[in-house]
Amino acid sequence: MGPAGDAPMELNGQNGHSNGAGKTRRRSSKQFDASLSLADFVVGESSDPILPPAGFTEWHAAASWEADLYEPQLLASAEPHTTIIYDGRARPVINLCSYNYLGLATHPTVVAAARGALDKYGVGACGSPVLSGMTDLHRELERRIAHFLGREDAIIFNSGFGGALGTISGLLRKTDVAILDNRSHLSLRDGAVLSRCRLERFEHNDPASLDAALGRRKGKRQLVVLEGIYSMDGDFAALPDLLEVADAHRTSVFIDEAHSMLACGAHGRGAAEQFGVEARIPLIYGTFSKAFAALGGFVAGPAETLDYLRFYAHPYVYSCALPPVIVAAILEALDVAGREPQLRSRLWENATYFREQANSLGIDTGASTTYIMPLIIGDRARMYRLGHELRRRGLFVAPVDYPAVPEDRICFRACVTAGHTRADLDEALNILQDTFVPELAHSL
Ligand SMILES: Cc1ncc(COP(=O)(O)O)c(C=O)c1O
Repeated sequence: MGPAGDAPMELNGQNGHSNGAGKTRRRSSKQFDASLSLADFVVGESSDPILPPAGFTEWHAAASWEADLYEPQLLASAEPHTTIIYDGRARPVINLCSYNYLGLATHPTVVAAARGALDKYGVGACGSPVLSGMTDLHRELERRIAHFLGREDAIIFNSGFGGALGTISGLLRKTDVAILDNRSHLSLRDGAVLSRCRLERFEHNDPASLDAALGRRKGKRQLVVLEGIYSMDGDFAALPDLLEVADAHRTSVFIDEAHSMLACGAHGRGAAEQFGVEARIPLIYGTFSKAFAALGGFVAGPAETLDYLRFYAHPYVYSCALPPVIVAAILEALDVAGREPQLRSRLWENATYFREQANSLGIDTGASTTYIMPLIIGDRARMYRLGHELRRRGLFVAPVDYPAVPEDRICFRACVTAGHTRADLDEALNILQDTFVPELAHSL
């Protein structure tokens, strides 16, 4: 079955399953062929593109038990304790799934700011920012993000995915080269594909591989694309080493700080701040859907670059602006993250505690050094069995299947937040000890 929401560029991960509305499907009488995955249904072999490839519908139907773990319906907010529908009924769960890293989704002043904007501006922006969707709040957010990051200007997008796609495709042209880490998010890869530029990949976080990739296309306009924190593995980009290589080739770097913005660095300015390399990265991109706990994306950098992008980033020009209510919430979230640095400290304390305890139980968290952690199980059948057991026991983690990760790295992804108490984390660890750890023993 499918991946979680993010996927490495190599593997064309798509969330291709639908769980229906509220009903839990029973195991199909047809046998689920576990040797097949979404990677096997990419090629359009039917005579009509409206028809899915042969075998997909049958495979998908047979995989309904596995699919039940995807698109779970939340009945409440993305807080550490929430309620989901599982097996046809409401279940309270400890939530290690949501990106609500600083707990701002329900912060009282953030919610109040959103309510105030709802009263004043109504629900939607009702137009592209270029024509009628821009409000004074959107302009203020541009200024505030630019100021926060020490940049000349910022553009606000109505989605993080669209922001990455629009920025990369808006800047690169057919004769250019995008150089991406092979664990890059699909939004970055798709931006490069849309621009029709040449795509070069380098081995994850490997400076020698980056050097070789840059060397292969000498003389072309090139852009190195990195991520602050990689969204599946939860490890940082090796920024100092990779920047040294990019600098040696006089190549500009674009960084995706989706998972690191507001949560990393002394002031929350992301991985670039944490590594002290902000001045060496001209273009910073982030999303408002992770630590900001809202929706949307931004890119910040030189005014002349952004003036150009305001016309050539299609998801900006040709798509409706963010609802003002969301912009108001983001503005307040930015203030709260500045006023309450203890949220960041708590996030990191919780992440370190949870990872150390999980590791002491024998759970492999891969290369993670952050609040995003793969809990590696490395076997599809075990992962789905365990996935159901965890939901039954009240632990909500994201299943991550091939092709989003290599088959031997099939895992659950856990996201720890500032809002989790020690008791929450201990309860989650107890559930893992009762369920996950015995499965590991079986695999030895
Ligand atoms: C690294 C990375 N970049 C971009 C995005 C897209 O952001 P959004 O979900 O806000 O559209 C994601 C989403 O998870 C991501 O992980």
